[in-house]
Amino acid sequence: MKDGLEDVIACKTTISRIALENGRAILEYRGYDIRDLARKASYEEVAYLLLYGELPKKYELQDFKIELAERRELPPQIIGLLTHLPPYTHPMVVLRTATSYLGSLDKKIAVRTREETFNKAKDLIAKFPTIVAYYHRIRTGRNIIPPALEFSHAANFLYMLHGEEPTKTAERALDMDLILHAEHELNASTFAARIAASTLADIYACVVAATGTLMGPLHGGAAQEVMRMLREVASPRRAEEYVKRKIEAGERIMGFGHRVYRGVMDPRAELLRYLAKRLAAEGSTKWFEISEAIAKAAYKYKKLLPNVDFYSASVYANLGIPDDLFVNIFAMGRISGWTAHIIEQYENNRLIRPRAEYVGEKEKKFIPLSKR
Ligand code: CMC
Repeated sequence: MKDGLEDVIACKTTISRIALENGRAILEYRGYDIRDLARKASYEEVAYLLLYGELPKKYELQDFKIELAERRELPPQIIGLLTHLPPYTHPMVVLRTATSYLGSLDKKIAVRTREETFNKAKDLIAKFPTIVAYYHRIRTGRNIIPPALEFSHAANFLYMLHGEEPTKTAERALDMDLILHAEHELNASTFAARIAASTLADIYACVVAATGTLMGPLHGGAAQEVMRMLREVASPRRAEEYVKRKIEAGERIMGFGHRVYRGVMDPRAELLRYLAKRLAAEGSTKWFEISEAIAKAAYKYKKLLPNVDFYSASVYANLGIPDDLFVNIFAMGRISGWTAHIIEQYENNRLIRPRAEYVGEKEKKFIPLSKR
């Protein structure tokens, strides 16, 4: 067995497929290529696809959008919680705490019928952006901006965060970014959610497990670390020296490498690069140019290729999103994938309980406390 469960198949799924075909990586959600979904669908359409397994018809999408929009507002108790948390609390800690609190407010928390689980899933998808935007406004001493029913999921988040209607380019950029982050098979956070679901824990507990797991810098936390690197490098001219130094020191370069895309480009990174370039052309080119220089050097010195988190950083920076909200944006996208996996686990469940290979000492003689 390889460490880190590398290449281990831990469950069957119909939610997404990752494959390497003819030297190219394929990523499909429910059979649809991510490249098509990112270009042609909206986040709401993709969330519906992940949850229900089929692309919605026009009227189904309309109903789904209205339902999500109507679920956006937070109960007053959650707004109270956001007000009382210390303003230095990391927004991902806020997200998992608020998720847990939502569970405590749900009188049907233990009900796991299909209908009730879908209701809870839609509620979490709808409320995640509101939790993030409200907390950011509150911690920066500003008034909260209630969700606007008429805006799309992506536009509404930017509106609640910045207090003004986003441009069409900004809206489309976030929409595409959320689609690209929505699902990725058995990544660490989704696996954490499925393990919790396999014990028949409630959906909030499963999402708390996933949210906590996503935050780590080897997973979703990498995007914030990428931004730290872009700021430190500060100019494309300094990128090569920075990368060379890091690699010679045996350190990791954030936003590069991937367990399942070895030697091939992460398809999400390709699309995010395109998005970052397009946003840069309409705003500041600074972060994109530094990113390009780092990517070139990372390939030159260690044949490293960027992953989903690398170009996300310059996309978010150009959307005016603060660095410590980057992981939350990932979570806002991934919540639809997490909940789809939790539902899949509930509906075809067997407790996930693997074994460990014991490598410690054996059969030792007990020494009384007085003689140790
Ligand atoms: N910087 C420098 N070297 C790297 C990196 C990196 N970012 N990623 C992999 N390598 C090297 C590693 O040192 C090793 O080299 P060698 O064979 O010479 O010892 C080789 O590539 C294989 O690495 P590994 O540790 O076996 O790879 P892994 O599958 O265990 O780790 C990873 C995957 C994502 C944790 C790792 O690539 C990494 O730490 N990347 C930086 C953090 C990051 O960007 N995380 C976001 C992942 S994508 C979004 C998500 O799913 O959350």
